[in-house]
Amino acid sequence: MITCSAPGKVYLFGEHAVVYGYSAICCAIDLRTRVHVEHSDSIMIESSLGMTRLDLEIHPYVTKVIEKMQEFTEIRGVKIKIESEIPVGSGLGSSAAVTIASIQALNELFSCNLKSEDIAIIGHEIEKQVQGSASPTDTYVSTMGGVVMIPERKKLNSIDCAIVIGNTGKFSSTKKLVANVGELRGEFPNIIDPILTSIGDMSHNAEIFVNHGDYSSIGKLMNVNHGLLDAIGVGGAELSELVYAARNSGAISAKITGAGGGGCIVALANDTDIENVAKAIRNTGAEAMITRNTDKGVRLES
Ligand code: PMV
Repeated sequence: MITCSAPGKVYLFGEHAVVYGYSAICCAIDLRTRVHVEHSDSIMIESSLGMTRLDLEIHPYVTKVIEKMQEFTEIRGVKIKIESEIPVGSGLGSSAAVTIASIQALNELFSCNLKSEDIAIIGHEIEKQVQGSASPTDTYVSTMGGVVMIPERKKLNSIDCAIVIGNTGKFSSTKKLVANVGELRGEFPNIIDPILTSIGDMSHNAEIFVNHGDYSSIGKLMNVNHGLLDAIGVGGAELSELVYAARNSGAISAKITGAGGGGCIVALANDTDIENVAKAIRNTGAEAMITRNTDKGVRLES
């Protein structure tokens, strides 16, 4: 049996602005999806959603991965088991992680010789097929790990402090929120474009702070980024409650991560404040997850 894993991600800067070509900074987090594969007589896919054969309803990503991998090798039978620490549909890149880890696991099992760059490209293709549209960010970060500037694909230094995630548990549709921002921009281009430009500029300023480990400056800009996301209409009462709970309990910074509307916030915290920040988030009734940046992208575990 072969096991491969791939990480989820948070946006430190730049979601929504990245849709219009501005820069964003994304950070792989140490919440992983593990995919176990072994040779078998038939195709079986097992996850917390159940056990299926090729099934585009229940296991769309893995089904598409198996279909795609038939271009590189003949897969008559394989048993695939998925275990994930990444909550589904909350903007933390769960679909990218399962896609990337599955590609790598089959790549290893059938010796297809695909390189990281190929895996990231195939992963993005599959996300597009399943979702209709998808940015290459999640699949790229999940493949490469670390901290990455998008669209430049530039690796920055690691973030070396705790990352606390607060999950509203409220479903958020990336497609709908991206469309809402597009509409607002269409109506008030002279107001919204400078905000998106400012978010993109923030990523460039932050690049230097990330590379110097200046968390205080990173934090100030993340807080500004949150305000601008709120300004373009992707915030909400639940998200703001979590952001202020985190900041008021000692977080360095807190902002929406991902599409907004629901989903998650990301807070940076010094080691001494981790528990207080997580507790403050939990006290609002939301889920808190404590994690860190990981340099390990997709990898063979055993
Ligand atoms: O919530 P997520 O992980 O789907 O992130 C969405 C990020 C956006 O910039 C809003 C859209 C995109 O495709 O980049």
